[in-house]
Amino acid sequence: MLQVELAGLKLRNPLILASGILGSSASLALRVEEAGAGAYTTKTITRDPRPGYLNPSFIDLGIGYLNAIGLANPGIDDFAEELDLMKKAVRIPVILSVGGGSPEEYEYVVKIGAERGADAFELNLSCPHVKGMGAELGEDLDVALEIIRRARAASGGRPIFLKLSAHYNYLGLAEEALKAGISGFTAINTLRGLAIDVYARAPILSNVYGGYSGPPIKPVALRVVYELYENFGKVPIIGVGGVDSWVSALEMVLAGASAVGVGSAIAANGFEIFGEIIEGLRKYLETEGFRRITELVGLAHERSV
Ligand SMILES: Cc1cc2nc3c(=O)[nH]c(=O)nc-3n(C[C@H](O)[C@H](O)[C@H](O)COP(=O)(O)O)c2cc1C
Repeated sequence: MLQVELAGLKLRNPLILASGILGSSASLALRVEEAGAGAYTTKTITRDPRPGYLNPSFIDLGIGYLNAIGLANPGIDDFAEELDLMKKAVRIPVILSVGGGSPEEYEYVVKIGAERGADAFELNLSCPHVKGMGAELGEDLDVALEIIRRARAASGGRPIFLKLSAHYNYLGLAEEALKAGISGFTAINTLRGLAIDVYARAPILSNVYGGYSGPPIKPVALRVVYELYENFGKVPIIGVGGVDSWVSALEMVLAGASAVGVGSAIAANGFEIFGEIIEGLRKYLETEGFRRITELVGLAHERSV
């Protein structure tokens, strides 16, 4: 009833842990699987280790969250061992989120990830607060396409999702990415934001800018998912941004997402959120007379045809 296929990946349900939310380890992946998720995304891993930014790097604004973790990670050579353990610990697909400062760096991370059995890759071309990485690379079409080409060549034929930002011309990038053979899209990453301490009279985050997430960004995420589906039809889309209930998960599906990423809601509601969303989706399908969740993908567009 809730099973979905996403660019060849078979998921028991459409819920995916979004990148970066919990750190990445085999034991966390197992907890996410036990909580009911259909797939697990690692935090973004780069070629070289990154210490990340100094605290404060995460703020609960009461109306969503602002973070500038700075893509802190141990680097793929170190993380490869954890990936091995992860693959042994869980049966749900493990999606390796890949970052870097150049096409060569992305290629290297994908190559090692493929050797260690990552089930799919997500190219982070959308992190809004790290200089020379993420959204800055997504903004440069030539660089973005070179990253996609190299990632494809190194991926061993496994699916590759492009994680998009709402800040740049994502439809133009998506169109070219499809021509270059991308398998699907993850939309969206956090929005670039800022918070100020009025007593310190200064920005709160050590990095000044951070990524805004949580329920307030849902309308933006829905808009991007809707436009991707409107323009490219049944392309696999992982809808991410502000999902915190079965209703918001369903909104993503109706907008055109085949799968739904859950991020900040874990910080707010714990792992139980997966079970709650699954239960809510099941009940909805039953009471509304649908046999499969896949029947609902993109249904909000039928109104306009
Ligand atoms: C603390 C934190 C760390 C994140 N780290 C990453 C990351 O490493 N890579 C990435 O692609 N997205 C990262 N994100 C973005 C999320 O994957 C997601 O796209 C975004 O938070 C919107 O979803 P949400 O509103 O459900 O949190 C991070 C988000 C948060 C809150």
